[in-house]
Amino acid sequence: MTTHATAAPPTMTAWAQHRYGDAEAVAPEEVPVPSPGPDDVLVRVHATALNSADARVMRGDPLILRLAFGLRRPRTAVQGRDIAGTVVRAGAAVTTLQVGDAVLGETTGGGLAPFVAVPAARLVLRPEGLDDLVAATLPMAGGTAWQALALAGLEGDAARGARVLIVGAGGGVGHFTVQLAALRGAQVTALAGPRALPVVTALGATTGLEHRRTDLSQLTAASFDAVVVIAGDHPLRQLRRLVVPGGTVVLVSGGSRPVTGPLAVILRAMVLSVFGSRRLRPLAATAKPEITAELARLAAAGDITPHIERVWPQTQARAALAHIDAAHTVGKLVVRGL
Ligand SMILES: NC(=O)c1ccc[n+]([C@@H]2O[C@H](COP(=O)([O-])OP(=O)(O)OC[C@H]3O[C@@H](n4cnc5c(N)ncnc54)[C@H](OP(=O)(O)O)[C@@H]3O)[C@@H](O)[C@H]2O)c1
Repeated sequence: MTTHATAAPPTMTAWAQHRYGDAEAVAPEEVPVPSPGPDDVLVRVHATALNSADARVMRGDPLILRLAFGLRRPRTAVQGRDIAGTVVRAGAAVTTLQVGDAVLGETTGGGLAPFVAVPAARLVLRPEGLDDLVAATLPMAGGTAWQALALAGLEGDAARGARVLIVGAGGGVGHFTVQLAALRGAQVTALAGPRALPVVTALGATTGLEHRRTDLSQLTAASFDAVVVIAGDHPLRQLRRLVVPGGTVVLVSGGSRPVTGPLAVILRAMVLSVFGSRRLRPLAATAKPEITAELARLAAAGDITPHIERVWPQTQARAALAHIDAAHTVGKLVVRGL
């Protein structure tokens, strides 16, 4: 396919940052519209959903993250990883997408702008009937939930009737984990904040526990086949005693130290897993377009229902970044494109 170009202006207003910091470090800036490389497409952004990853990169917190994202300032000046939009240009080597295609996917950043250049291989077609705002919520949070359940062994027949505890069930990753587990026939106990409990119960949790009022050490030992930990700083031994022998604790989040982040917990989990039959498995989720496509199919069919707490116009993207940074989101936050 040759490079196709439709009208895109030479410059655009993007929400950019040139130092690590809170949302005040991010400001509107006139920048060139990116040129797609041969394997890329240029996407007009209709919606960008925020994840806690956007806040972590914005702040450069924990410090260890700066090794990958830029030592002195974020290498990606524009945050916003999960996008839905329309292809307006396609690089010369792109064969899978064409101008006019409606797409969604997880990028490496740049979504808080009217246009973003993305490798075509990261994007999938948005099914008919799936709204852009909903589509944007799916890739990172839904993909992480999917990969967490896979690591917990909760797929296919093994999920049916399995008892799973989801710690931190109310945020982006958490509420997808609840509904995917319920869809597969698991019995879901959700530990979440008071605002999130009605949401996760409606999405299929059979039991809801308020996280600030629940002491995990008081729950019956070995009462779950799997525990998925998405928030909190619970001792690993306390989490491990909750699963049956042969059961798995998946650590999506292992808490975060200011310098090393979850590293110490991940190492301890690996060591502890050597002893006994209860596994502790840290998750390192990656962008998987085939999972995004499956999530999009499920959402279009109404089998999963992303909960959107709030939508901002792109002109107010800084407020949306401040909200995700506060870490009290119920479901997802979305920034609507221009
Ligand atoms: N391992 C991986 O590959 C991977 C991939 C993606 C994300 N993550 C991690 O997963 C976590 C969630 O990401 P996200 O984007 O879904 O975040 P998010 O949407 O910002 O999640 C916020 C939610 O977490 C809840 N929460 C906080 N502390 C809690 C606790 N102690 N118990 C229960 N709920 C609690 C909050 O409830 P309240 O308002 O009641 O506090 C809020 O509803 C982050 O730590 C992120 O770094 C890991």
